[in-house]
Amino acid sequence: MNAPTKIGIGLLGCGNVGSALAQLLLEDSENIARRTGITFELRKVAVRRPSKDRDVSVPAELLTDDASAVVNDPEVDVVVELMGGIEPARGLITRALELKKPVVTANKELMANVGAELSALAQAQGVDLLYEAAVGGGIPLIRPLRESLAGERISRVIGIVNGTTNYILTRMTEDGIGYGAALAEAQGRGYAERDPTADVEGYDAAAKAAILANVAFGASLVSGDVYSEGISDVTQEDIKLAARLGYVVKLLAIVQLGPKDQVGARVHPTMISARHPLASVRLSFNALFVEGDSCGELMFYGKGAGGAPTASAVLGDIIDASHNRSIGSHGRNPLALGGENWPIDEQSSSFYVTIEVDDRPGVLASVASVFGLHHVSIRSMEQSGLKDEARLIFITHRALERDVQSTLHDLRVLPVVRRVGNVMRVLDEDM
Ligand SMILES: NC(=O)c1ccc[n+]([C@@H]2O[C@H](COP(=O)([O-])OP(=O)(O)OC[C@H]3O[C@@H](n4cnc5c(N)ncnc54)[C@H](OP(=O)(O)O)[C@@H]3O)[C@@H](O)[C@H]2O)c1
Repeated sequence: MNAPTKIGIGLLGCGNVGSALAQLLLEDSENIARRTGITFELRKVAVRRPSKDRDVSVPAELLTDDASAVVNDPEVDVVVELMGGIEPARGLITRALELKKPVVTANKELMANVGAELSALAQAQGVDLLYEAAVGGGIPLIRPLRESLAGERISRVIGIVNGTTNYILTRMTEDGIGYGAALAEAQGRGYAERDPTADVEGYDAAAKAAILANVAFGASLVSGDVYSEGISDVTQEDIKLAARLGYVVKLLAIVQLGPKDQVGARVHPTMISARHPLASVRLSFNALFVEGDSCGELMFYGKGAGGAPTASAVLGDIIDASHNRSIGSHGRNPLALGGENWPIDEQSSSFYVTIEVDDRPGVLASVASVFGLHHVSIRSMEQSGLKDEARLIFITHRALERDVQSTLHDLRVLPVVRRVGNVMRVLDEDM
């Protein structure tokens, strides 16, 4: 039997995820060595305030506030970045890769904005840059997309990739509470930050959608290329109406291949059939639904956040990178195929539209004619209420986003329309 490989780990950040990882490395190292043949030694840990109380007791001599010293330490073989944010993480990772040290990160913001530059550097240096935990926390998603599905012609990936919003929407759906109360509850339980903007406005999910686009389709998207709408305008009325029509409201990240190999990535509240597998993803759980020509439909499900699940994914990457390093190799990066961004205006969806109208003859015909004028065909229509309460509820067939937006614009100025109410995209299942 070969002597076990020893790998020195340099950890940048010891917060929620870093503490859980440090605990695994400090307390479970024998088990990890038995299972992998690699003995990991935590050599240095960079934090902002070394004297702060932590969830894990890291020996004081390992802690430092000098992150560069961790990267440069010759005893550190693999660098693990769990600080978050773009700088100084980007500079530190660049330095580590220049030193030919493999890097593992869980940093979605970084990978969604400068991932291409860092991956190219890793490739040029012949070392790994792995980021399984950046999307879906503890759920293996990146590796299956990159490796198991490397030859698959994937047409679409649809994800529930933000636990906070899924928790809020689940509580609104199952318990009939309003958005504000559900958000306050999520904050009370630690599922939402005190400033929940990044989650509820869809920015966190947009970063993950960009990463998924790049891994699944070889695109080169950044967060800003992803169209995103959050859930703060979703009302109890939308959820009830959706339920009556057989749908559930979810915040979805949808990434799909367009014509001419363009790649479209978008995040928005979406009505999905109550029978769709993603409809059963409740509370803070995450899932990714993959549609491919040969593999058919696949779903990956689990805990998309939290210290321990995320640390589990980081540890898997550390083991992979260390193994590759010990045999002088590195994993394959997804090729950048150069698929251009498919603008939202040119993508199509079915839509749900509610319109408050005057209750008099001819109204329906004039409203329907506006849809027709813009080539948006109507799949179903329901009328509810009388007089001041009169309302039309439409579900359209799949139509170009641009045409639907023109329809909505014209409806808003139509004399018989008192108000265009809520509008939501409906997931097409007949792609
Ligand atoms: N939390 C999750 O569930 C989760 C899930 C998936 C991915 N992620 C990603 O994992 C990363 C870490 O998240 P987290 O929740 O663990 O963050 P966190 O709790 O805020 O921890 C950040 C850590 O980095 C340290 N740090 C920050 N800036 C530093 C600097 N300039 N120099 C040295 N140390 C610095 C902090 O030091 P102090 O402790 O002294 O303040 C802290 O230990 C992020 O990229 C996040 O997006 C997190």
